[in-house]
Amino acid sequence: MPKKSREYLEEYISEKKIQKRICKIAKQINKDYKGKKPIFIGILNGSFILIADLVREIKVDCEIDFLKLSSYGDDKISSGQVRMLKELNCEIENRDIIIIEDIVDSGLSLKFIKELIENKNPSSLKFVTLLLKKDISNLNFKIDYIGFEIENKFVVGYGLDFAQKYRNLNAVYVLHS
Ligand code: IMP
Ligand code: MG
Repeated sequence: MPKKSREYLEEYISEKKIQKRICKIAKQINKDYKGKKPIFIGILNGSFILIADLVREIKVDCEIDFLKLSSYGDDKISSGQVRMLKELNCEIENRDIIIIEDIVDSGLSLKFIKELIENKNPSSLKFVTLLLKKDISNLNFKIDYIGFEIENKFVVGYGLDFAQKYRNLNAVYVLHS
């Protein structure tokens, strides 16, 4: 377990549990998108491991693109403002879009993404998130595929960072400091 001064990690969701859940979600997506050719859009940086694991279980033809947002800087608390750091390279109009997020906290990022994509007239738009902080997310739409609903804790690992650290870990940990 990586440790540095007062900061320490406590395992919260094991690698095995994560992999099992991702396989289940992929199976469901394979069923739901049979005969279609969805575009998976990963939200950088946090979703890079999730999208890599998920799409390798996808059996329908698909495309992959990335959007880069930032709301946290190097802090544990959202700045409250979402900034776009990298635009999409693909055409969205009349396509089936699946957004891949690492975690939904306040829901601000997802709302921003929903508006952005809907303005480009996709034929459908669905959302995947590995983690949902259900008590604090404030969304007026549903998330279609949820890995795990979690308590209001700051977590790292499996793509999730604190000040860009810990993304490389295979499991999800609570960061105590
Ligand atoms: P939201 O806009 O408040 O829903 O925050 C979403 C983004 O904030 C996620 O995509 C993450 O990048 C980041 N974030 C939120 N909660 C956590 C956390 O517990 N650990 C690491 N990053 C987080
Ligand atoms: Mg993120």
